[in-house]
Amino acid sequence: MRAPSELPRGIAAIEFDSSQISAAVLRLAAGIARDLPAEPVVLIGVLKGALFFTADLARALPTETDARIDFIAVSSYGNATRSSGEVRLLKDTSESVEGKNVVIVEDIIDNGLTLRYLQELLGHRKPASLRSCVLLDKPYRRQVDVKVDYIGLTAPDTFIVGYGLDYQEKYRNLPYLARLHDRVVEEGGVVAPEASTVLSDGHRRE
Ligand code: IMP
Ligand code: MG
Repeated sequence: MRAPSELPRGIAAIEFDSSQISAAVLRLAAGIARDLPAEPVVLIGVLKGALFFTADLARALPTETDARIDFIAVSSYGNATRSSGEVRLLKDTSESVEGKNVVIVEDIIDNGLTLRYLQELLGHRKPASLRSCVLLDKPYRRQVDVKVDYIGLTAPDTFIVGYGLDYQEKYRNLPYLARLHDRVVEEGGVVAPEASTVLSDGHRRE
């Protein structure tokens, strides 16, 4: 466990380190390979959050797998930590999904609206099969019923950043999944990460 003083500003604790992430990714890749042994598969990563996850998942598949990679980008309206449920398509896939075995690769499922939107969008395009793979799940936050075929890790009820996930576009580059300081994320409002800093002596500067 890293001391708070060694963590970047605004980060309270590491929830899953890179070895825990790798183990989860390997497990997920094994599940996908088991279900689609000899068929071509298209991993559709949901930008930007699933960028690293998609890359690592693709490389964890057996080398004999005929895997293709595509990306789609969506945004949900809302503030920095609460999505409003209104999903908007920012970038479509570059290849058609018709007749293909598609796996949607998403960073995190929270209320479920983003994944439901993507399943409906891609489901209408006649893929041979459509599965969903998420790295992090917050099952207790679900507002709509969504089928998820592969789930990596169950996330605590706190805002998670790192390994692609952001807070106002920050922290995506962290190699682990971490929790923000409570002061950074306040119910109904947003406090800048700079607002609370743990000093090297463990005291907090507000
Ligand atoms: P949903 O539509 O509520 O299921 O939210 C899914 C999207 O919200 C994810 O793709 C993320 O972009 C974002 N999101 C939800 N929870 C978190 C979190 O804890 N950290 C970072 N992004 C999150
Ligand atoms: Mg996302």
